[in-house]
Amino acid sequence: MTDSAPALGPDRPQRLRQSEAVRRLARETRLHPASFILPLFVKAGEGVRDEIASMPGVFQLSVDEAVREAREAAGLGVGGVLLFGIPEHKDAEGSAADDDAEAVQRATRAIKDAVPDLAVITDVCLCEYTDHGHCGFITTDGALDLEGSLPRHVAAAVSHARAGADLVAPSSMIDGVVGAIRSGLDAAGFPHVGIFSYAVKYASAFYGPFRDAANSAPAFGDRRTHQMDPANAREALREAALDVEQGADLLMVKPALAYLDVIRQTKAAFPDRPLGAYHVSGEYAMLKAAAERGWADERRAALEVLTSIRRAGADLVITYYAAQAARWLRDGA
Ligand code: PBG
Repeated sequence: MTDSAPALGPDRPQRLRQSEAVRRLARETRLHPASFILPLFVKAGEGVRDEIASMPGVFQLSVDEAVREAREAAGLGVGGVLLFGIPEHKDAEGSAADDDAEAVQRATRAIKDAVPDLAVITDVCLCEYTDHGHCGFITTDGALDLEGSLPRHVAAAVSHARAGADLVAPSSMIDGVVGAIRSGLDAAGFPHVGIFSYAVKYASAFYGPFRDAANSAPAFGDRRTHQMDPANAREALREAALDVEQGADLLMVKPALAYLDVIRQTKAAFPDRPLGAYHVSGEYAMLKAAAERGWADERRAALEVLTSIRRAGADLVITYYAAQAARWLRDGA
């Protein structure tokens, strides 16, 4: 080489990065609020907003406040809300789960009434409703009886459908729960209510803050006998296939960031099913904690994570950042 400029080939990727105008044209993955789903925790009372210590900006809400948040999210273009209930009364069978007067059912009716165009999805599980915090029953000798609790899951799903839920989302990872709920909904006259299955849900350390939020930490033991081993990806496809066979309309992978490969493989194997990924409480808490310490630029870090989840293949992202991210996008991120 002489003192003239080095010989560069004609293919210079940097040309597409010279201005935001051109970067925007070249962008492969776009975030849109319609692909975000906002989880809301609902409970009894009025005017209640109890902030969750490990999830700054996330609250346990009374139904009126949940309607307010849902309306705001809808105004920002957010696609849907996912409702979790915190009952006043917990017992061994999770009796409150299918009570039409419980917070989730009341919030579903109120949100569908106030913002009919916003999708309302309800979480179907017993762990928020049982006093021992497990997703099913405990037998007299202390063992977990998950299958025995399937009729309770079906009753909860039917109660949510009666309240007007667009989709129900079984999250307990019990074999056969999707099929049981599908038959139960059809038999109860709700063939049009869809199932958003937590098909691929790992036994993750990232659910901790959620369990504070929903007061649903297991009193003893853990969920490793029914939630998936974080080491397994091939098994994810088996879980997803079973749920599709049983009538799942949408699939979910959960958590999101530590499972981007699983999101990619699940989308490739089931391209015709909308795929959601749940950016869970611990993932949210990590970003919040780093931002509070000034160790990360929250807006850039959160949008980068959400983009990576979409880039991996998720059509929908369930995230506590849904409204905030929609606001950031509106204001020009
Ligand atoms: C209930 C349920 C959990 C989450 C969603 N549904 C907790 C669990 O399985 O222990 C976690 C969500 C989050 O961490 O944001 N079965």
